[in-house]
Amino acid sequence: MTERLICGQVVTFPGDPFATAPTEAVQVDSAGAVLVRDGRIAGVGPAAALRAAHPRAAVEDMGPALILPGFVDAHVHYPQTAIIASWGKRLIDWLNTYTFPEEMRFADPAHAAETAARYFDLTLSEGTTTMCSFCTIHPESVEAFFAEALRRGQRVAGGKTCMDRNAPESLRDTAQSAHDDSKALLERWHGRGRISYAITPRFTPTSTPDQLEALGSLWADHPDCLMQTHLSEQVDEIAWVRDLHPDARDYLDTYEAHGILGPGALFGHAIHLEPREKDRLREAGAALIHCPTSNTFIGSGLFDMGGLRRDGHLVGLATDTGGGSSFSMLRTMAAAYEIGQLRGTPLHAAQLLWLATQGSARAMRMDDQIGALQAGLEADIIALDLASTPAIAQRAARAEDVWEQIFATIMMGDDRAVRAVWIAGDRRRG
Ligand code: GUN
Ligand code: ZN
Repeated sequence: MTERLICGQVVTFPGDPFATAPTEAVQVDSAGAVLVRDGRIAGVGPAAALRAAHPRAAVEDMGPALILPGFVDAHVHYPQTAIIASWGKRLIDWLNTYTFPEEMRFADPAHAAETAARYFDLTLSEGTTTMCSFCTIHPESVEAFFAEALRRGQRVAGGKTCMDRNAPESLRDTAQSAHDDSKALLERWHGRGRISYAITPRFTPTSTPDQLEALGSLWADHPDCLMQTHLSEQVDEIAWVRDLHPDARDYLDTYEAHGILGPGALFGHAIHLEPREKDRLREAGAALIHCPTSNTFIGSGLFDMGGLRRDGHLVGLATDTGGGSSFSMLRTMAAAYEIGQLRGTPLHAAQLLWLATQGSARAMRMDDQIGALQAGLEADIIALDLASTPAIAQRAARAEDVWEQIFATIMMGDDRAVRAVWIAGDRRRG
């Protein structure tokens, strides 16, 4: 039985940094260690004590690097990897001009496999160990994503994106085929390795009520799967939903009417919410996924992190690659901070780290497996260099405490800050 001890400045989450003082809820042990055995975390504590108790463990001393759970990206579109940072369109135009043409290419399994491998390489270098991805309407795109995750031993969720209206002919399925293809995929993949299936209607404008009904009933049959979609991202989109469904109480109602609301539902963006929608989302235990680089890049609006977390909503954090302009959860935390500032809520570095790991893991209902450095959880771990560039190093040198140092890396860091990544205890980078 091989044991390894990863030593550094170890971050743990004794509480929720939105409910109690951030630096009490999130703690940094400057001389800490994580004991890893058989792919899981076997203990967390002071390095000296763990070294003494486990003298035969292989020690990986990361010096002053920050030891964190791997980042969890709760909303991405891996098929949009190659069209990230496409200029100048708002949501519906952006979908028609860049996204749909690229998604058509995923009918080709070779293109899907190549993109999936590239996507996992890129995100590993950013320290992201788990993500929840939309695929395309093609089952081949789901096969490629899950096969690559299985090969790498990563915990992921994903699903076939379903669309049966308002999309090009070659990207449309039907209510029945969306149900049957999703069912076949979830029966084949859900629970295999570290894989979870997420039933995935793209959003109301591209799914008929019949399709939403079929997918809602599939979810009722498989309630341990996730459900992911988009909600209230742009005002034009909301107006379109109102035109399509004049009798609905609001946008959320178009999902709720078909059983697409409950624990394990992930609603991407959720920016322009009505009071009734907020109440129902909270009562139902659904998660809202904040996609800050996307929301500024596509010009969607300012998510209300302060208000929603204060009211007890479950919130995850995500890149929304490729509507989002980055693969990096550090960059995503920086954008969340900036949006918080524009809404009068300056998020603490401890809150940002928590959202990018524990917050997203809770949203994905995976916090019993990942998202914290805690005995019993899977050993998906990263080491962050807090002085990875000259600009960051000179700022960190003036920091009065570790939180000031961490904040400089959140605001200015990139893949150069990610010194090492372990997936299920196996070192993959650094
Ligand atoms: N709404 C429906 N589809 C998409 C998508 O692919 N990206 C974003 N940002 N919003 C969407
Ligand atoms: Zn999205």
